[in-house]
Amino acid sequence: MSIIVSPSILSADLANLKTDIKRLEESGADRIHFDVMDGVFVNNISFGIPVLKSVKSITDMFIDVHFMIIDPMKYVDAFVDAGADMITFHVESDVDIKSTIDKIHSRGIKAGLTVKPNTPIEVVYEYLPFIENILIMSVEPGFGGQGFIHETMGKVSAVKKVIIENGYDCLVQVDGGINDITAKIAVDAGADDLVSGTYLFKSDDMKKAVQTIKLINNS
Ligand code: DX5
Ligand code: ZN
Repeated sequence: MSIIVSPSILSADLANLKTDIKRLEESGADRIHFDVMDGVFVNNISFGIPVLKSVKSITDMFIDVHFMIIDPMKYVDAFVDAGADMITFHVESDVDIKSTIDKIHSRGIKAGLTVKPNTPIEVVYEYLPFIENILIMSVEPGFGGQGFIHETMGKVSAVKKVIIENGYDCLVQVDGGINDITAKIAVDAGADDLVSGTYLFKSDDMKKAVQTIKLINNS
């Protein structure tokens, strides 16, 4: 399977979002990564429900919503109604994890869990049978354009091993500081899906940048 590429529109030109969504569609990327920040769980506020609705109205692409919010349960319905195809939320948020996974599934979309760079990966193992996505953050959540934290790759290999050994149907996603060099490192560690903001949106040729990542050999 080739690598799934999920451009983060946090790095798009938000004054020309339609143009950048078109660019993204034409680049051959697989999914749109939509970062939601509440100014409480992380020290930044991004965009939310009305923007998701607008994005959904102009594209048929799969929308991967990354919640960086303190109360994921409270917002599942609103984001599903607005067009989310998957919701991934933080284990560090203030919520009952299994009930939130069940709630997301009850709305007919995929569910994912994510861990910040300093959170041990073992905390997610008990939930792996129930989720479709495990996101290992390779930067501190909150901002685009940060440097890749290499030490997080040990968690990618560890979780991938557990998934394979148990035959779980869960993809491993890496988010933060992904470029042509770090993409290879993440794929070698076991990533199936790479989120990338700055590298893709600031490149002169997004299609070429996406294809560079997609062609990394993960076999
Ligand atoms: C960070 C976000 C990321 C971010 C990635 O909190 O979750 O999705 O947009 O951006 P880059 O690729 O610039 O690190
Ligand atoms: Zn993200």
